[in-house]
Amino acid sequence: MTIKEALKLHEDAPILLSFVLKKDKAFLFACPEKKLRIRKLRSLRILLKKRSLGWPVAYLTGHKEFYGLDFLVTPDVLIPRPETESLVDLVCAIFVRSQKSSAKILDIGTGSGCIIIALGNRLGDPKSIPDQSPGQGSGLRFFASDISKAALRVAQKNAKRHKVKITFKQGSLLLPWKNQRFDVIIANLPYGWRAWKNNTSAETKGLKFEPQNALFAKKQGLELIEKLFAQLSHLRGVRSSDRTTKQSYPKTVFVEFDPRQTLQIKKLAAKLLPEYKLNLFMDLAGKRRFASLTVF
Ligand SMILES: C[S@@+](CC[C@H](N)C(=O)[O-])C[C@H]1O[C@@H](n2cnc3c(N)ncnc32)[C@H](O)[C@@H]1O
Repeated sequence: MTIKEALKLHEDAPILLSFVLKKDKAFLFACPEKKLRIRKLRSLRILLKKRSLGWPVAYLTGHKEFYGLDFLVTPDVLIPRPETESLVDLVCAIFVRSQKSSAKILDIGTGSGCIIIALGNRLGDPKSIPDQSPGQGSGLRFFASDISKAALRVAQKNAKRHKVKITFKQGSLLLPWKNQRFDVIIANLPYGWRAWKNNTSAETKGLKFEPQNALFAKKQGLELIEKLFAQLSHLRGVRSSDRTTKQSYPKTVFVEFDPRQTLQIKKLAAKLLPEYKLNLFMDLAGKRRFASLTVF
């Protein structure tokens, strides 16, 4: 079979064939009459079979681009979503606006590590923070945790790949970080719920191949965000009784959620973190998807 014929087998054949041949797509279109070796054709057919069963392309190739960087992904991690790139922009904006060049930044539920690595990559670049002269060591320190050990192994590989220095810990929410204080916390925790899980539309077809504990949470998807807010509210209580440590508690916390959860997010923030100022932000599709909570 020629490349041209193979490309007609499936709409995702170009990306999968380029993966099998270890050549870019331009090569496929430049050499349409080239015959495929039997072994390569067999590999392509296996991938196409899996793809037609619903396997996400990213798990078949083991790669996903996020924020312009190539991330390794395995079925142990959620495939980074394009909408989450806006969350990285929101966090970066704080540092650009405040010209702050030293801070401790924590990513909870790091998965593939895409958020914290993209931040490290962007903020570690002296041009991205105006008051930082080139060559000056960044005072930003990066931390990440996840409840899944397997996910952390993937995140560690990605951090090494992109040369971002990150301190990783395993555990639930803030528990692995007892007695540690952060300036910024980002948490893209599982926020899917049952009705969403049972939805069998094309858009959600691949979800069954992703780690379920990365996607779904109890209480209509809000259980973990609520728990995180409760843990933060406890810190806040300690802080108000000890004014000297005021500067040490997270100034800003970012969470991602489903636009349909907006009202509940507002209620949880008002109930558990009344001292924090809540701001909601839209994703590129114009839907409310991110919240920042800032304490002054
Ligand atoms: C929606 S995924 C986000 C992954 C990654 N941050 C991203 O944006 O692509 C949620 C992540 O939270 C992790 N997780 C689930 N429950 C957790 C908990 N109680 N504490 C910390 N991490 C948790 C999952 O293992 C998963 O990696």
